Amino acid sequence: MKQVTYEGLTFEPYISKKEIDARVGELGKEIVRDCAGKKPLFLCVLNGAFAFAGDLFRAAEEIDAEISFIRLRSYEGTCSSGAVKEVLGLHEDIKGRTVIVVEDIVDTGNTMYRLLEDLRAHEPAEIKVATLLFKPDALVRDVKVDYVGFSIPTKFIIGYGLDLNGLARNLNDIYILKED
Ligand code: HPA
Ligand code: MG
Repeated sequence: MKQVTYEGLTFEPYISKKEIDARVGELGKEIVRDCAGKKPLFLCVLNGAFAFAGDLFRAAEEIDAEISFIRLRSYEGTCSSGAVKEVLGLHEDIKGRTVIVVEDIVDTGNTMYRLLEDLRAHEPAEIKVATLLFKPDALVRDVKVDYVGFSIPTKFIIGYGLDLNGLARNLNDIYILKED
């Protein structure tokens, strides 16, 4: 792994694909243990979580499970607490089901908080949250995360689904912004 540059910013290797694979495997096992017999619905939050969700879903091959994909659209709101997000693409009936929300990253928790509020209105039996990355020092919302890949400092990272203006999602490893 070597440094990569996007839009004039330099990033250095941070978490290797090998480490990611090992950790995702562990999370898959936890989900298999927790969700046996429940036929959970994995809800992948596009775009960032596509890589993680694909790997996590397959790491849980020992249980019956489904996967679906949603997207959050920001729109101008009068709400002072930042961008309001609308959930797009939720076509499944989640009432009474176990839902596993799969995110690439939880930082402030605002997005996840809003998403969970929306999903709860559909009366699922339970909602679990899986995130590849968690920035605990950035959290301002009371959001419970059930499965965390890696807790990281409040720094900008890219790769394995995470982007800088749409780029770098196809990097196999995770990189962190280099500070000089
Ligand atoms: N990288 C990419 N996307 C993000 C990040 C990050 O560190 N935090 C929130 N979205
Ligand atoms: Mg992004």
